[in-house]
Amino acid sequence: TAPEVTKSLKLNFNAVAKSLADAVTVPAGYTATVLYRLGDPTAAGVAEYKNDGTESGASFAQRAGDHHDGMHFFGLGSDGKYSASASDRGLLVMNHESITPNYLHATGQTIVNNVRTVADEVTKELNAHGISVIEVVRNGSSYSYKKDSSFNRRITTFTEMTLSGPAAKSPMMITAYSTDGSKTRGTVNNCANGYTLWGTYVTCEENWAGYFRRVAATDDANRNAKERTSFARYGVAGNGNHLWATATAAGADDTSFSRWNAMKIGASTNGSDDFRNAPNTYGWIVEIDPFNPTSTPKKRTAMGRFGHENAAFLPVVAGQPLIYYMGDDSRGEYLYKYVSNALWDPADATRGMTAGDKYLDDGKLYVAKFNADGSGSWVELKFGSNGLTSSNTTYAFADQADVLINARLAADVVGATKLDRPEWVAVNPANGDAYLTLTNNSNRVLANPTSSQQLVDPANPRFYNDPKGTAATAQKGNPNGHIIRWKDATAAATTFQWDVFLFGARSTANAANINVSNLTANNDFSSPDGLWFSNNTGLLWIQTDDGAYTDVTNCMMLAAVAGKVGDGGKKTINNIDGATTRAVDTYVGAAPGDTNLRRFLVGPKECEITGVAETPDGKAMFVNIQHPGEDTRPTYTNPASFGSHWPDGGNARPRSATIVITKNDGGTVGGGLA
Ligand code: FEO
Ligand code: CA
Ligand code: CA
Ligand code: CA
Repeated sequence: TAPEVTKSLKLNFNAVAKSLADAVTVPAGYTATVLYRLGDPTAAGVAEYKNDGTESGASFAQRAGDHHDGMHFFGLGSDGKYSASASDRGLLVMNHESITPNYLHATGQTIVNNVRTVADEVTKELNAHGISVIEVVRNGSSYSYKKDSSFNRRITTFTEMTLSGPAAKSPMMITAYSTDGSKTRGTVNNCANGYTLWGTYVTCEENWAGYFRRVAATDDANRNAKERTSFARYGVAGNGNHLWATATAAGADDTSFSRWNAMKIGASTNGSDDFRNAPNTYGWIVEIDPFNPTSTPKKRTAMGRFGHENAAFLPVVAGQPLIYYMGDDSRGEYLYKYVSNALWDPADATRGMTAGDKYLDDGKLYVAKFNADGSGSWVELKFGSNGLTSSNTTYAFADQADVLINARLAADVVGATKLDRPEWVAVNPANGDAYLTLTNNSNRVLANPTSSQQLVDPANPRFYNDPKGTAATAQKGNPNGHIIRWKDATAAATTFQWDVFLFGARSTANAANINVSNLTANNDFSSPDGLWFSNNTGLLWIQTDDGAYTDVTNCMMLAAVAGKVGDGGKKTINNIDGATTRAVDTYVGAAPGDTNLRRFLVGPKECEITGVAETPDGKAMFVNIQHPGEDTRPTYTNPASFGSHWPDGGNARPRSATIVITKNDGGTVGGGLA
């Protein structure tokens, strides 16, 4: 097990103020430069992006996608292989979670009677999702990416993927694309990420369910009860995001579009068009080898199917299992833990994806229960145990593949704790404490919950009105979110201790029950989402997403010196809503104060700050600015109406982009040893 924190850390910057400016602000003494924007070319011979929506859909297979999100920097050695210590040259691998169609196309999406009539627009959207692998090189004090690197790669919703692990080849995975259920095509809504010790990237499929077209009123009659329960639980219902399934390409292979139709049974222009199981091939952790541009990504089904946010691993010890923690980001969803059956052999660090086959295809999946006394337990999701049987009356499981494909239903059966939207997990490399952002939850209530609501409980203890906007638009429930943390008794243990590290709040809010962590003007925030420990400085970085504070400030990134689980004490939160009151006892970490928690960055208008990586020497930090300007419906003839003009300025359309942050004196970013 990892050692306890023995060295004290400190922040080496002054806090930046909250801001509504259309700019990235970093502390004095730091510089932020733009590295890689929506549409930037990833291959020689591809024209510079005009940023007027006129590029072809096909060209986006060789351009940066949209909505940059989670990412990782892999050092690139002079031998062209992974080097955990190389900082001057590396592969930056990042997710493109979603799209802002208003700025991706010349005048937005063309939709006629609920049908996408311009196939090329849909092709562009399909290509603008997925992953980028780009080679980055240090030049002087900053970095640029190599447009013509042979390592550059776009992985999109078109890229072939192997289904691997216990749910591969299940009858529930068979589609027209793979009649033995061994593969699928593409990945979508790649939110955050993780990485492995063998130099591969893992990307997490989050809100994939919404892309599939399945009109329940029509489709339910063609489905058995188990299928109906599963689709309802995962939210596979509706017309499908962006109506992709409605596009057609006359005379061509139009299954690129129709495979997003989970209800169609029939023949397309080139054969079978049965993609009724396609939703089961999404919702996974996907492993990618960035050092082998022709490799086929693998969906690691042993790690369960849900709305994956990220995957964070514990410090690894030779002879012990690999442990990943994973959040499922929806209101009232769960926290999961994966424990490999194979024990770590450091010789596997050079074996690439074959190491993934060994550690990520064979393991135990657990879900978390947080108890009222500050303890917790991990409950295994194993067919035949804990009620996960063929005779279960809520949902009759057929086998372990069924348990993994329907992990949410399995977690319901075992009574896991419903959390306030579990986003990123980060593990303190110094001591193995794990932290989880619970971004917010408008469904948290004090009494009489409906089936989609959750009662306040010790791990999700707050209910209040945030004063954003008018009384009518005030946000109820847990609008500002919190960061919970735990320590497993041992790495593979099934018990843990937990407390709440931080509660989001306005610094001006009532300190007894809302601003419980005593935040100040230098560090108050709402809706924590991205969460990441620097292996170099040991600092904890917190990024925010929209939420209930955007009337005062754009989204931000903060840095913290983390304490450790149990450094605070028990506290009672007295929640009040009209005539209803409910006191909840919880466990609260020591307030970090201005010394140990400061705002480091504020982003441009209408953006989310998400995704962070660093070079192994800690002197360059990469941060993603996602969807600036996304909330504004622009008037195309009036570019001044665009919701943001970042990063290009003037009257330009806004673009998601990666920035590089360096310290002007060449030091490590954020701080380090005191
Ligand atoms: Fe894609 Fe839960 O954030
Ligand atoms: Ca997120
Ligand atoms: Ca979020
Ligand atoms: Ca977002």
